[in-house]
Order: sequence, then structure tokens, then C-alpha cells
Amino acid sequence: MARTTLPGGNWTLGDLTVTRFGYGAMQLAGPWVMGPPADHDGALAVLREAVALGITHIDTSAAYGPFVTNRLIREALHPYPDSLHVVTKVGADRDQQGGWPTARDPESLRRQVRDNLETLGVDALGLVNLRLGDATGPQPGSLAEALDTLATLQQEGLIRHLGLSNVTPEQVAEARSIAPIVCVQNLYNLAHRQDDDLIDELARQGVAYVPFFPLGGFTPLQSSALSAVAERLGATPMGVALAWLLRRSPNILLIPGTKSVAHLRENVAGAGLALSGDDLAELDRIGR
Ligand SMILES: NC(=O)c1ccc[n+]([C@@H]2O[C@H](COP(=O)([O-])OP(=O)(O)OC[C@H]3O[C@@H](n4cnc5c(N)ncnc54)[C@H](OP(=O)(O)O)[C@@H]3O)[C@@H](O)[C@H]2O)c1
Repeated sequence: MARTTLPGGNWTLGDLTVTRFGYGAMQLAGPWVMGPPADHDGALAVLREAVALGITHIDTSAAYGPFVTNRLIREALHPYPDSLHVVTKVGADRDQQGGWPTARDPESLRRQVRDNLETLGVDALGLVNLRLGDATGPQPGSLAEALDTLATLQQEGLIRHLGLSNVTPEQVAEARSIAPIVCVQNLYNLAHRQDDDLIDELARQGVAYVPFFPLGGFTPLQSSALSAVAERLGATPMGVALAWLLRRSPNILLIPGTKSVAHLRENVAGAGLALSGDDLAELDRIGR
């Protein structure tokens, strides 16, 4: 498919220009993000279609699979176009049961950065998010030791820019006193609005906010109000949910996941929908 102008335009993460419409690769791995994909060639096709559509921001982690999504990205897209920025994250490992044990001591973080470099096939990582908290969400506590380790790796030239994931506003403030932070990746969508104030604050500071689970995650969003607006606009509910996020704040970058080329195209088209004041008011009420 020919390259198109993506809805939302561009954003700059440090010196990396990315499309606000990106792609989240996590669910390309096997069930519950463990093991190989059910459809290997289909996964490669989705990644290649994302780039063909003009997407320049792909979100991943060596923990996905583990190593599965990074290797798929490498197989589909290496050598990477200069315009493409693959964003990764560190801070958790995987165990045999598919759990996400915390791994934020200096040696574990160095190992995860090495794993990402090797599996993506690059000499330096464009942007690394430090993932805190746990599967239940952000947890309070200092991130200083972990962020210091990543800042050292940045000085060594292995990382260009730093971001945070699954964090509290207090941790964002602490991090920004230690090193420049270009993005925050937390759970947020039409139905989960806990970060409304943080998004507005980051927008004032020029820092990107990247909602994870923008479509609801493993159980995509279901809401009668969302369906009603989508029906009125002749669109899909997922498309409307993405269009709402792009309208919510200019610093929001999208990384919706899908294993389907058809859904990817549908989501790009949907994100470009024009939402009226009435549509927005109706959608706003979903998460309040
Ligand atoms: N920092 C963190 O701790 C963290 C945690 C979780 C996720 N993430 C990041 O966030 C990204 C996005 O998360 P996610 O992919 O898990 O969740 P998501 O983007 O909220 O939703 C993906 C789900 O929506 C479905 N979907 C997508 N488009 C659709 C459409 N047009 N119609 C119907 N269903 C559709 C997908 O199914 P199909 O495959 O069938 O389309 C998939 O089940 C991940 O890739 C990952 O990079 C980060």
C-alpha cells in the first residue's frame, strides 16, 4: 500500500521525529505474550504494512516472548529505514509461568539493554522506557538507582533517549530531576482516565504521553456509548477510541496493537475521524 499521511501528524521525542500514530508489537508474540506467534508470516506482514502506511514509531521489548517481537521486527524490517524508531523497555524479566518479575538492579538492566541491542540488531537504542510498578499498576518508591544505571548507559552511547513506563506523577518528577525524560507510557484509554492531570502537565512540559492498552488491551473496549458514536459516524468502535485519544491532547502518541493487517488499516482510517463536540462529550462520559 502507498505511504499515506497519518492522522495526528508528527511528534518529536528528543531528536527523533515519530508519527503520532504508531504501532505496539507486544501481542505479536504467542498467547499472553509468551512464545512464537500463531501466524509468523502474518506477523511479518503487519509490521511491513505498518511501515508501508508511514508509521515511524514501533513499541516493543525484549521481554515480549521473550525476544519474540524484537526478532520479528528485525526479520521484517532490518535494515531499518532511517525514519523508523523502535522504542523498547526494560525493568522486568519473564518467568516460566509467563509472569513479569521485576528486574531493575544495575546488572539486570545492563543485560536487558544488551538483549534489546542484539535481538533488534542495532548498535544503539533510540529510546528506552524504564518500566516500574508491577502488573497491578504503578507502585510508589524511588527510581533513582535504576534511572542512574540507564543514564550511564546513555552516556556510554548505547541509548539515545530515556522514557518511563507504569509510573506515578511523583516518579515522573523525580526522574526529570535526574535525567531528561522524553515520554511517559502508562495505562490510559477512554475507560481508564486516571492520568488525565498527568497528561495535561506533561503537555505543558512538552513531554509525550504514550497510552498503553489504548484499545483496552487483551479485552478490547466495550461500551454502548462508544458503539453508538461509532455507528453514527459509520466507523468502528476501535477507530473512534483512537480518534478520541488523538483529540484528547497533542502530546498523546498512539501504539495500538493488532495481529491483523485489516485491523491496522481500519485503525489508521478510524483515527482520522472528525469528532464533533457532541461526540466528544458523549465519549468523555465513558470514563468518568
Ligand atoms: N509499558 C507497559 O507496561 C505495557 C503494557 C502493555 C502494553 N504495552 C504496549 O502497548 C501496546 C498496545 O497494547 P496491546 O496491543 O496489548 O493492547 P491494545 O492496543 O489496547 O489492544 C489490542 C487488542 O485490540 C484488538 N484490536 C485492534 N484493532 C482492532 C480492530 N480494528 N477491531 C477489533 N479489534 C481490534 C487486537 O486484536 P487483533 O489482533 O485481532 O486486531 C488486540 O486484541 C503493546 O503492543 C505494547 O507495546 C506496554
